[in-house]
Amino acid sequence: MTPPHQKHFHTSNPEEATAINRSLPEFAAAQTTDEDEYFANHQPPTYLPEIEEEVRGFVAFHQQTTGKRLALVTSGGTTVPLENNTVRFIDNFSAGTRGATSAEYFLENGYAVIFLHREFSLLPYSRHFSHSTNCFLDYMTERDNKIEIDPKYSAEMLKVYRKYNEAQDSNSLLLIPYTTVNQYLYTLKTISEALKIYQNKAVFYLAAAVSDFFIPQSRMPQHKIQSSATTDGELVIRLAAVPKFLSRLVDNWSLGAMIISFKLETDNNLLIKKAKSALERYHHQLVIGNLLQTRKKEVVFVSPGREEWIRLSDEEIANGKEIESEMIPAVIKHHDDWIQASK
Ligand code: PMT
Repeated sequence: MTPPHQKHFHTSNPEEATAINRSLPEFAAAQTTDEDEYFANHQPPTYLPEIEEEVRGFVAFHQQTTGKRLALVTSGGTTVPLENNTVRFIDNFSAGTRGATSAEYFLENGYAVIFLHREFSLLPYSRHFSHSTNCFLDYMTERDNKIEIDPKYSAEMLKVYRKYNEAQDSNSLLLIPYTTVNQYLYTLKTISEALKIYQNKAVFYLAAAVSDFFIPQSRMPQHKIQSSATTDGELVIRLAAVPKFLSRLVDNWSLGAMIISFKLETDNNLLIKKAKSALERYHHQLVIGNLLQTRKKEVVFVSPGREEWIRLSDEEIANGKEIESEMIPAVIKHHDDWIQASK
């Protein structure tokens, strides 16, 4: 079976024709069956069937040809548009470092990876060169009227280039973008359902920062909000709660896959408590807790009855070690156990 050619999708442009539908009922405040209500009351992105085809092709290719395990890595932050023709939006913090770096280590450890990422956030491999200087041209130099890689970067770049090519040539990395929270949720659902055939050989690694509040499609203004829309100089925006989709993912959308969610906090006293309550609430396999301030240095793995910290020393960080180089092998151990236990 030959590797399918990957298409390029763009998710940053609003969909004028479909997002506004005044016939849809008002989206009510959050209640217990809200995940299903959400999909009944919000339209999918128009490109979704094409994404589904790409994903199904990728999954079938690995199932039939390579037999690799498969990781769905979500990365970056979802946006909440304030207008359909979007000039303003609410964003979620995340550069995509955790997701892009983790994807590389999954690939290095023999997994195929579906990388569901915020469009224009960091990508595996190119991340090494895209945001670390002012411009990629900083890596170049001129010699004999020609441009070439500056020798001081070439050894490091060659290493990354080889790994990138290996991922490309073996068709092991599928890049799927999203921008808004609606695109993210629909795409996550679609990919999860396509992954059902993979059962326990799939791992969901949900590192994206997902909006908790949004403006339902039924309430979305079509055009840029005017300053005349203010009352006494204040603009009031009413947001609805985004339902928590983890329970649907665990119960209905995936079949036997290992599911890992992340818990981001800024208060050290809350981290373990919140990670444990996520595990109890959704009954999945692993929560990786991290604090905004120290997320590149330490994380905690919370699984039923267990807490394991992974920490890097200042010296290791100064030498360029990435915490994901320890996290992913630890995740893979959990995945081995999961496969073993579900036999
Ligand atoms: O990209 P970096 O700059 O490296 O940053 C990485 C990170 C800090 C963003 C990442 O490590 C991380 O912690 N990601 C999860 C952030 C997040 O959304 O945390 P939360 O506590 O708000 O949500 C917890 C879980 O609930 C998430 O796995 C999310 O998938 C899920 N969720 C969230 C909202 C929602 N409506 N439904 C959900 O199911």
